[in-house]
Amino acid sequence: MADMATLVVDGQSIELPVVEGSEGERAIDIRKLRSETGIITLDPGFANSGACRSAITFIDGEKGILRYRGIPIEELAEHSSFLEVAYLLIYGQLPSGSEFDSFAGSITSHTMLHEDFKRFFGALPKDAHPMAACSAAVGALSAFYPDSLDPRDPRQIEISVHRLIAKMITMAAYAYKHSIGQPFMYPQNDQSYVANFLQMMFSNPCEKFELDPVVEKAVDLLLILHADHEQNCSTSTVRLVGSSMVNLFSAVSSGISALWGPSHGGANQKVIEMLEEIRDEGITAREFVERAKKADTTDRLMGFGHRVYKNFDPRMKIIKKACFDVLENLGVRTKLLEIAVELEEIALKDDYFVERKLYPNVDFYSGVIYNAIGTPANMFTAMFATGRLPGWIAQWMELHEDPDFKIGRPRQIYTGKQVNHYVPLDQRR
Ligand code: CMC
Repeated sequence: MADMATLVVDGQSIELPVVEGSEGERAIDIRKLRSETGIITLDPGFANSGACRSAITFIDGEKGILRYRGIPIEELAEHSSFLEVAYLLIYGQLPSGSEFDSFAGSITSHTMLHEDFKRFFGALPKDAHPMAACSAAVGALSAFYPDSLDPRDPRQIEISVHRLIAKMITMAAYAYKHSIGQPFMYPQNDQSYVANFLQMMFSNPCEKFELDPVVEKAVDLLLILHADHEQNCSTSTVRLVGSSMVNLFSAVSSGISALWGPSHGGANQKVIEMLEEIRDEGITAREFVERAKKADTTDRLMGFGHRVYKNFDPRMKIIKKACFDVLENLGVRTKLLEIAVELEEIALKDDYFVERKLYPNVDFYSGVIYNAIGTPANMFTAMFATGRLPGWIAQWMELHEDPDFKIGRPRQIYTGKQVNHYVPLDQRR
């Protein structure tokens, strides 16, 4: 017999079931609350509300645990590859050798974009942010593939999923090439997913391009670490938009827009801009930390703090180590890394950050790696989006398989005027 919670409102008592997840997380199931009491719950920012049951990703924010389909992120970071992690998230288990070959082969064969996409990107202003371009381009896939938009047809889902993962790297690379006025480079399908992405970004028709394996491995690792993070802002957006029964491309396009914000994935660009500001304006790390303590939400210590992690972000630990390894392997010394380390050391000892349990998050060091391998800052969040794609897809698929599926439709507490009659224009003052 399930545990029950008793809620007493206006002298009326109601019993609500307590549900428990496989890792012991507990929730009060309030589904019959409004119909039986007329009352709703109010939870700004959804900090206390579970929107779904999910078997994809587990996070324990107090202990700093992150697992995809039960596998610790540390093990995936050490042994897996981004495409294998994509398979794991989407299909629920690690692939056999033949399953992986077939999945990777299908993704590889769909990397090319319709030629009309060249005009699509060409129509954007040259300084269009790559996230604006990627969100628009992913949304536009639904115009290019009207034959595969049914969110309940398994064959159409399969083809859309493969197309989306495959074409995302081509679209992100085109967005970048457009912004620097260089010709679009076609995918080279004898290369790995990440190598293909990087050659489309960094090669040009005039020079021989050689990809440093250190760079390829670093980007693969970053994509793995970004691949899913349960019900964060962009994933919840994908689920909410998807719940209207819209197609996968449109739902993911909304997720890309949500990720762009500086409180979410856009923080990686903001971190590097913050480090550059400290370097270029000769401010000390200590002065910047003092400024961030007084700041409003737009001028915080970027790359610090997390809604769920209140001890440490396990992705950050992996990224920090990778950051030192990559820079050493490339023989690069950057002032930005020195500033980042100093900022981290100061903030971790500062009462303001300690009391609020603010620790460096996944975005704090990722930009330093991207910067060291020559990626422009405005591409960082598009790289994050490429990594997050399998998570969005897996969550969208799980939504549609959920026996509790419903269109998402939160309620509100109305605080506006009570009935207020229309006044004709000539009688208004
Ligand atoms: N710098 C300075 N103060 C901060 C910071 C920060 N980075 N983050 C939170 N605070 C303060 C905030 O001002 C508030 O103080 P007070 O209680 O005195 O009003 C307190 O800490 C709690 O902040 P909150 O905004 O209520 O916390 P939240 O859980 O709603 O926000 C967050 C989480 C990630 C949006 C926030 O920590 C933040 O804006 N961080 C900087 C942006 C960032 O790095 N985002 C990337 C998140 S990880 C990547 C991903 O999205 O997956």
